[in-house]
Amino acid sequence: MLWNNSLETGIPKIDEQHKELFRQADILLDRGKDDRIPQTIDFLAKYVAKHFSDEQVMHASSQYPKALAHKQLHVDFVKRFKDLKQRYEAAGHSLQSVMDINRLVMGWLKEHIMVHDKEFANYYKMKTGK
Ligand SMILES: [Fe+2]
Repeated sequence: MLWNNSLETGIPKIDEQHKELFRQADILLDRGKDDRIPQTIDFLAKYVAKHFSDEQVMHASSQYPKALAHKQLHVDFVKRFKDLKQRYEAAGHSLQSVMDINRLVMGWLKEHIMVHDKEFANYYKMKTGK
């Protein structure tokens, strides 16, 4: 699944990061058996961590009332991502485990954006007038 405009939160920094996450997850599938896959998985892991942290900074700076629950969703995702990453590394390359990572990122992110990030974005825009 590729990016589409219905996924926009209206906060440019967050939207750019979401697009990049979709792009990287897509690259992962494109690479097939390419030896750059571990690099892409590492990049995703770091980029996800930075993205979540940037979001959480915005939650805190705007006193978002659901900050804690939202952070817990991020923590859960990181755990699931780490599990799949470890499985990929332990089992050696398999198309199945690459597809699992792609599906986790795209599927989880899409739902997370549509419900939780949009809810925050509405709050943030109201609160900051941006
Ligand atoms: Fe989020």
